[in-house]
Amino acid sequence: TSKTILLHEISKLKSKQDQWNPFAWYKQMRENNPVFYDAEQDVWNVFLYDHAKRVLFDHQLFSNKKERSLIPVPRVNNRSNVNFSDPPEHRHRRALLAQAFTPRSLKEWEPRIQAIADELVADMEGQTTVDIVQQLAIPLPVIVIAKLLGVPSQDREKIKAWSDILFYPYERETFGDIADQKARAMKEFQEYLYPIVQEKRKHPADDILSDLTKANLEGEQLTDMEVVMSGIGLLGAGNETTTMLISNMFYSMLFDQPGIYQEMRADSTAIPKLVEEVLRFRFPVAIDRQVAQDTTVFGHKMKKGQIIIAWMGSANRDESQFANAETFDIHRHNNQTHLTFGAGPHFCLGAPLARMEANIALSTFVKRFADIRPVEGFEVTEHLIQSATGQSLKSLPICVETA
Ligand code: HEM
Repeated sequence: TSKTILLHEISKLKSKQDQWNPFAWYKQMRENNPVFYDAEQDVWNVFLYDHAKRVLFDHQLFSNKKERSLIPVPRVNNRSNVNFSDPPEHRHRRALLAQAFTPRSLKEWEPRIQAIADELVADMEGQTTVDIVQQLAIPLPVIVIAKLLGVPSQDREKIKAWSDILFYPYERETFGDIADQKARAMKEFQEYLYPIVQEKRKHPADDILSDLTKANLEGEQLTDMEVVMSGIGLLGAGNETTTMLISNMFYSMLFDQPGIYQEMRADSTAIPKLVEEVLRFRFPVAIDRQVAQDTTVFGHKMKKGQIIIAWMGSANRDESQFANAETFDIHRHNNQTHLTFGAGPHFCLGAPLARMEANIALSTFVKRFADIRPVEGFEVTEHLIQSATGQSLKSLPICVETA
């Protein structure tokens, strides 16, 4: 159990409010402890932009072959696990998976995503209060990925339930129970997907699982089980994160810069800028690597086998990279240089898809609603749930005015 590293045991942030807004703590760390060694878990932590970027780029010193990690280390580390590997092996694994993520596939997905967003927003018809998380931010990514993978969309409740369990955060006290639940969910999920993948191999359709059965690198192909595991991996990588992005966009429009909604309605080119600034400003993401050799780096002696965490949510607020970093500003010229999708060889493969989903969600929403307001007496702490990154929104009720 000691093999999984718990982020909140490093930050020591206790209250929900502080875990939801860890940005003051990040600032404190950047100023006083930018390279911080946590002795309890034997983990290095970096909080500055340049350091985080170096950790993500320098795969020779900071390896993704880890014996401990923020997420459980996979027992089988085969071609279907693109993340837990280093170049050159990583390049190979990623090339297979990337065959389902081409610019052409993205173009084909756009109208399908639009249709799903249209339906979800149409379902809000007649309501004066809508819950953005439950009615848009959760269902959109789940339905999209179910459609894109090519599994029946009526199974999306099941898929959501499995992926929730698989990505539910660990707690020291209940570690064993959670691990058992996850093992069960993984088994059920595999058993569900396996026959679907076998069918796709025989009768390929226009979807990711079919593309993966066909993916071919110098004659090498994924087995059915590897396609199953790749599919589960995509769900894990893409669902909760995209839900957070869409939820946080609305939170930012209400609380980080009230009134900005009208700019979104007036100028559709402002929407992608908002998406990017939310990714920079309101995303407490952290990624780990394993130190590959004894070394002195960032002014400290690090030992082979130690884990180092790049706190990208903090890097994204580093003044040396972003002027007035603590201000929400969709017009900053370099907001795209945030590290929320990672950087270097493991840069998020799904970034174009996540961006497209967020853009379509908001552009569809602004066409239907003239204005949004917080509900009376809104307290964010009543709407939070523990997630892999700390606290995230489980609901966000807002008042809407029909256009
Ligand atoms: C990798 C964030 C959405 C698929 C990553 C990494 C980050 C990230 C930080 C780098 C991990 C590392 O360096 O070890 C996000 C965020 C998202 C998002 C913030 C939404 C806002 C998606 C979606 C998909 C996806 C929608 C696909 C359906 C992947 C995959 C990798 C990855 C396959 C592994 C790439 C590799 O190791 O080479 N993501 N992601 N992500 N992401 Fe995303």
